[in-house]
Amino acid sequence: MRQTADEHTPGTSYDAELRRHNEVLRRAVGFQPHDHVLDIGCGTGQTTRQAARTARAGSAFGVDVSAPAIERARDLARADGLRNVAFEHADAQVHRFPQERFDLAISRFGTMFFGDPVAAFANIGRALRPAGRLVMMVWQAGERNEWDVAIRQSIGGPVAGASGGPDPFSLADPPAVREILRAAGFADVAFTDVHEPVYYGPDVAAALDWVRGFMSTRELLKQLDPAAATRAGERLREVLAAHLNDDGVWFDSRAWIVAARRHRAGT
Ligand SMILES: C[S@@+](CC[C@H](N)C(=O)[O-])C[C@H]1O[C@@H](n2cnc3c(N)ncnc32)[C@H](O)[C@@H]1O
Repeated sequence: MRQTADEHTPGTSYDAELRRHNEVLRRAVGFQPHDHVLDIGCGTGQTTRQAARTARAGSAFGVDVSAPAIERARDLARADGLRNVAFEHADAQVHRFPQERFDLAISRFGTMFFGDPVAAFANIGRALRPAGRLVMMVWQAGERNEWDVAIRQSIGGPVAGASGGPDPFSLADPPAVREILRAAGFADVAFTDVHEPVYYGPDVAAALDWVRGFMSTRELLKQLDPAAATRAGERLREVLAAHLNDDGVWFDSRAWIVAARRHRAGT
């Protein structure tokens, strides 16, 4: 998982990393003024605030299991003067959301870490009104993501999730996701290929700080002895330098936007 507000480094932030993805997701969701929006795994709440700005006669509610992220999300929403937004420190898998309250559940890379995805999406579905929409952005497979391939080749180590830890690619396979969502009570599942680069910082030093902060990078580096970790750090610096353009360090990436509808009663 990426860093959240309590750990971000100067030069880069998760919102900056995903600036291109964010635009694509915002357009795909198409918030409406009266929408009541639930943001799953909202982190520091950029997407929740976006929802609240457009849903001016509706509302936006963000939940996240990270207490510091929720605190930061509240501060940022307050600083923006938004009155129709709220946040809660909660586990979206089991939280007792108000039933049939929301028109729309969204997520920007916040739904890939559920222990029991069918139960989690069923719980989210119960919070949606019948025929309410789910629109989430998730990573495609690691090997389709240049950033993941580059980091793993620099540091070495098993593929994400192999050790049973959080797997950012757990919703990469469309047939598996279709089946999870069907079992959780969703229909009309559709996938849109998102091919946009991620931004790792204005220069190599900032990008290196940023990438070394990823939980997956930290886990991989922890498995190495000090000399091997130093060599891995050097290889990482080289690969980041090879991706430095005039406007910073960028890597190719592939994501899905997955859209679905909660079943109407009786369908
Ligand atoms: C990659 S971050 C994305 C954060 C945010 N959506 C964004 O785009 O800035 C994933 C987020 O999902 C949250 N998360 C993971 N499992 C969760 C769960 N079961 N319930 C709520 N939040 C969860 C993490 O704490 C983390 O903030």
